[in-house]
Amino acid sequence: MIRVNNNLFELHTLNTSYLFRLTKTGHLEHLHYNKRIALDDNDDALWEKHAFVGGNQCSYNKDNLNISMDEMRLECSSTGKGDYREPFVEVVYPNGSRTSDFVFESYEILETNPAFKTLPGSYNEAKPEHLKIVLKEKYYDVKLILHYFVYEECDVITRSSEIINNMDEEIRVERLMSAMIDYDDKEFGITTFNGSWANEMNRHEVNISAGKFVNSSVNGTSSNRANPFVMLSRKRCNQGHGGCYGFNLIYSGNHAEIAEVSIREKLRFVSGINPQGFSYILSKGDCLEAPEAVMTYSSSGYNRLSHNMHDFVRNHIVRGKWKNKVRPVLLNSWEASYFNISEHSLLKLAKEGKNVGIEMFVMDDGWFGERNDDSSSLGDWDVNLKKLPGGIKGISEKINNLGLDFGLWVEPEMVNQKSNLYNEHPEWVMEIPGRDQSEGRNQRILDLCNPAVQEFLIEKMTEVFSSGNVSYVKWDMNRNFSDVYSKYLGKDNQGEVAHRYIIGLYNVMSELVSRFPDILFEGCASGGNRFDLGILCYFPQIWASDNTDALCRTKIQEGYSYGYPLSTISAHVSSHKNHQTLRDTPIESRFNVASFGVLGYECNLCDMSKEDLEAIKAQTEHYKKWRETILFGDFYRREENDNKITWSVTSKDKTKSMGIIFQKLVNPGQTSEKFKASGLAGDKLYHFYNRKMKINVKEFGELINTMAPIHVRQDSLLHNIIAKFVKLDGETEDYIVNGATLCSNGIHLKQGFGATGFSDEVRLYQDFGSRIYMMEEISEDDAKAYKDKIREKKEEKIENRE
Ligand code: DGJ
Repeated sequence: MIRVNNNLFELHTLNTSYLFRLTKTGHLEHLHYNKRIALDDNDDALWEKHAFVGGNQCSYNKDNLNISMDEMRLECSSTGKGDYREPFVEVVYPNGSRTSDFVFESYEILETNPAFKTLPGSYNEAKPEHLKIVLKEKYYDVKLILHYFVYEECDVITRSSEIINNMDEEIRVERLMSAMIDYDDKEFGITTFNGSWANEMNRHEVNISAGKFVNSSVNGTSSNRANPFVMLSRKRCNQGHGGCYGFNLIYSGNHAEIAEVSIREKLRFVSGINPQGFSYILSKGDCLEAPEAVMTYSSSGYNRLSHNMHDFVRNHIVRGKWKNKVRPVLLNSWEASYFNISEHSLLKLAKEGKNVGIEMFVMDDGWFGERNDDSSSLGDWDVNLKKLPGGIKGISEKINNLGLDFGLWVEPEMVNQKSNLYNEHPEWVMEIPGRDQSEGRNQRILDLCNPAVQEFLIEKMTEVFSSGNVSYVKWDMNRNFSDVYSKYLGKDNQGEVAHRYIIGLYNVMSELVSRFPDILFEGCASGGNRFDLGILCYFPQIWASDNTDALCRTKIQEGYSYGYPLSTISAHVSSHKNHQTLRDTPIESRFNVASFGVLGYECNLCDMSKEDLEAIKAQTEHYKKWRETILFGDFYRREENDNKITWSVTSKDKTKSMGIIFQKLVNPGQTSEKFKASGLAGDKLYHFYNRKMKINVKEFGELINTMAPIHVRQDSLLHNIIAKFVKLDGETEDYIVNGATLCSNGIHLKQGFGATGFSDEVRLYQDFGSRIYMMEEISEDDAKAYKDKIREKKEEKIENRE
């Protein structure tokens, strides 16, 4: 709900309120962003009192000697009026001055969605709630417009800004941020998600007691170094308790989130396009838009914050046919064959995939030009007829005939120097003339500031996507920016390149998704180098990381889960040893972790054992049964210990839940284990059970001799033959329990293996071992009947033993 009353601006969601007021100096003073509050007549209780300015502080002006802009809690700050914080806006005016003073001119309450001319934005299919505030520079005809949008049901408020130059002379915008919040104190931790290639989304928390903390990217993408999603939280905030704020940007380029402590010991937060290297000229009538910032507040911990963000992303960011649709289980050719593909080898792989329940086959890199390694052909998007004699049409038909959908990989934004495109259009490449250039994966970036390049990509990709029955596209981007320079823009506009590139990219993506509404697009940038809400406005899912190691993935996927729903996180089961870490993890753990996301496989099924193929078949069956809940339910992280990860995802109607325990390393002293559920209805009964596992006797190494009548040498032919035919049953967990018990006490699982004894009463978690557990609501009558059945089974088992 939006209300403006007596110079007080109120934005209310279901559980939060965001309040600010117009001061007598014409500025917007931030008052409150926290739990929902009702306002009464005594509103001046809400604002800070300013009777004098302290010590050597500057006063705002002669008429307001008691006001220091440096001390005010502001919705947007500027430079030059005695305000020394990281500013919201910084402009260089025709006389060279950098002092700005934007004051209130008007406001409107609208029922319109964000309508950016250059950037993607959120949307509300119900009734949009929009507050627009126009500010004007006191001495120049320059307007600063602030937009606020309220998403009541998911406790999200978004903000954005635009600046318009109405003067004949040019101005230079050195920064235009998206959100700014001033808090009452500094008692916060800031959590950021940092990393590198194959090591995305490591969660870090720091306390800022003084100075500044900057989370930012300058490499041209939102980056794997510092994701734009960050959190501010109160001391002792955890998954289920405590106050915390989540912030994100709907933007895919260089960004900055800056937290600083003011001289009055208050935390200030500002986020938007990274001002480093940014400088944008506005001529008469020009407008610059800042990306939309997304904000949420949870008074009950991180899980709730994530639910708000997840609901917001699923309902107000992701669009199109795939928005609320389950995604097909795919098999990707990359780690199975890398560049070495042919129609024959791909079809062989796809056929194997079909046998184990795969629904879509994806041909990754290597299908075009002379692309036999990463040194050539990006830009030459014509099929290699030696590898695929029937072209895309031929291979897609053959894949379809196997009963699978067909998808392919492209990397449109790039060009290899070894390519026809580079030779024909060197002016389309981002390079600084006359200098040696830095290299990255043997490729250069196309200059998307140039409309001719955008047009080329739109038409060329249209040709590729129409050249066969293409149901899915993986859109990759494998190079960080360097030698940033647009041969298309003038010398004074080079500070615009990084931002204009992103605008160009959005134009290309937007046109292609509207030309191909049925295609499922997946974003990728060497894994998660561009995992952000800007991409998600066009592509409903993103390849989370090139690292598919199950242990690493627990950390990477958990990192993403703070700000992004599972329906956006693409996760694959790959082979062993893992190609990134050379670690062996059980095939069931690889699946269990990947199943908490959009599941795919990326391994050479043709070389896999019968046993592994059978396991995969059971996995895909399981996933298909549960994917609706996984992708669209509420995801919970549990605070566990360093050795154990517990997640669960519970359907919105609380009738179903799937959980995982992942153990990093075995500890024989710790054989007792509990699983605790989350989000179930306390007064409902649930059937709790585990996914059954078959145990390979080789897991016990030479301990097989404690059971075998003859001596078996480890890894001998005999050992392998026994392993082939003898499969041990894993433990069974089977209970009827109410939701309250499941969530608070949890289930005491079967005792873990601890060097002695193994039976189906013992739970074998190796290193990197895991299980997934299912909970399904059951009626009282069915529960009673089922309990009787469990009892009978137990008695039967005891009798058989006797
Ligand atoms: C990087 C991606 O992240 C990989 O999955 C794969 O598609 C390669 N590029 C192909 O070159």
